Amino acid sequence: MPKLRLAALISGTGRTLLNFHKLIGTKQLSAQIIKVICNNTNSIGSKKAIDMRLPIQYVTLKQCNNSSIEQSSKIFAICKENNIDLICMAGWNNILTIPEEFYNKVMNIHPSLLPSFGGKGMFGINVHKAVLEKGCKISGCTVHFADNDYDSGPIIAQSAVEVYDTDTPEDLAARVFVAEKSLYPKVINAYAQGRISVNNRKVTIKNEFSI
Ligand code: GRF
Repeated sequence: MPKLRLAALISGTGRTLLNFHKLIGTKQLSAQIIKVICNNTNSIGSKKAIDMRLPIQYVTLKQCNNSSIEQSSKIFAICKENNIDLICMAGWNNILTIPEEFYNKVMNIHPSLLPSFGGKGMFGINVHKAVLEKGCKISGCTVHFADNDYDSGPIIAQSAVEVYDTDTPEDLAARVFVAEKSLYPKVINAYAQGRISVNNRKVTIKNEFSI
């Protein structure tokens, strides 16, 4: 399988990054993490990236005059310089402005079954609280191509989990994260094999994997 040159965008605890790193180590993820781009110099994720000896570069909003447009152009310039094949948001919390040449080359994972429970403010535990408040019987995660809005790009794949009556938001978050750890790498591998195509927002995966 061809190895993708990956950039991972992180803001938080870096669990997704750690999962990628482990799976690359066991050859279950066909990628090489060329750059970790982080918008939070105090994040646990950045410490993990350093521990994993991954090349990290900080692009904070503060460095960019609080302009997400400026921040995006810095990020995509780094990706271009480094011949990045795929940018994976891995717990990234800033909006991006994606240049045309990177359309369908930026992925995100969201901890709900989009288009439900996505959008501004729907991150972290808020998502799972909202799912439980609505009395949903299933939840899950969604991998999608990113566009210039929150959680709104073409959906690539989803994985569902059951919601139990006794669930706390933390219980549900943990169950969804187990599904995330399996789904995201599978999608990245499918991308590496050139099996993912997009037509008018509709994504097709050739020889769809089992989840
Ligand atoms: C997960 O909930 C994921 O769906 C969202 O960020 C969280 C993971 O963040 N995109 P991290 O990898 O623990 O920083």
